[in-house]
Amino acid sequence: MTAEVAEPLGLVEGLRTTGAVRDFEDRPVPHDVLAKVFDTARFAPNGGNQQAWHIVLVEDPELRRGMRDLYVDGWNRYLAMRAAGVQPWAPIGDREAEAAAIADADDGDPGGFAGDFDQVPVMAVLLADLRLLAATDRDLGRYTLVGGASIYPFAWSVLLAAHAEGLGGVMTTMNVVHEPEVKALLQIPDDHAVVGVLALGYPTKRATKLRRDPVDSFVTVDAFAGTPLRTDAP
Ligand SMILES: Cc1cc2nc3c(=O)[nH]c(=O)nc-3n(C[C@H](O)[C@H](O)[C@H](O)COP(=O)(O)O)c2cc1C
Repeated sequence: MTAEVAEPLGLVEGLRTTGAVRDFEDRPVPHDVLAKVFDTARFAPNGGNQQAWHIVLVEDPELRRGMRDLYVDGWNRYLAMRAAGVQPWAPIGDREAEAAAIADADDGDPGGFAGDFDQVPVMAVLLADLRLLAATDRDLGRYTLVGGASIYPFAWSVLLAAHAEGLGGVMTTMNVVHEPEVKALLQIPDDHAVVGVLALGYPTKRATKLRRDPVDSFVTVDAFAGTPLRTDAP
């Protein structure tokens, strides 16, 4: 019998099929495989090539349980806001409605991915060095986004590179709600921000057809309400 050899993942196929994976096989991801993933991901674009990212791999079970408890609290808040019809943590949103929903949030174990968050094969906490980000929208007086654009493409590259190694994963942000506690837990310096936690592992299953809105629903010509870009794409 010949061993099955996986076809290399094409770039476009990878971009179209790297969906969120939250169910993992019960086998560890070797450090050398992880190192290869990060070695590929480090070529991500970023402002001024400052590479302001840092990853803390959380392996200690007690630290993982601490991260899980913080994740669960964020997740319960998220569920409560969704149940109340509130867009969770929207920069332009109804803070009073959010607060009311959160006041009613469950504080029990939600089960599923959140409840088992400490069991993910790889828990990679993603940090940003705030001294190195070129946040060109910093002084606009509105919610700022540009700094994150120097970090999140790296996170996406980690997920793509992980896919190419037969791994799957998901970007998560529930722990960021409790950034001070995360920073205390992992001894993160003041000048760094927690921007997410990547969960990675060998997937039990992988979605191949992701659901996304079509191009003409979000690309217009010359003005926000201009003519939608014509496309024959599915
Ligand atoms: C910035 C960001 C934050 C996210 N936060 C979470 C999270 O906290 N928990 C989670 O389970 N998934 C999280 N996700 C994953 C999204 O739910 C997922 O990308 C989206 O639903 C699309 O899923 P699909 O690619 O499988 O279609 C996050 C994704 C991004 C990009």
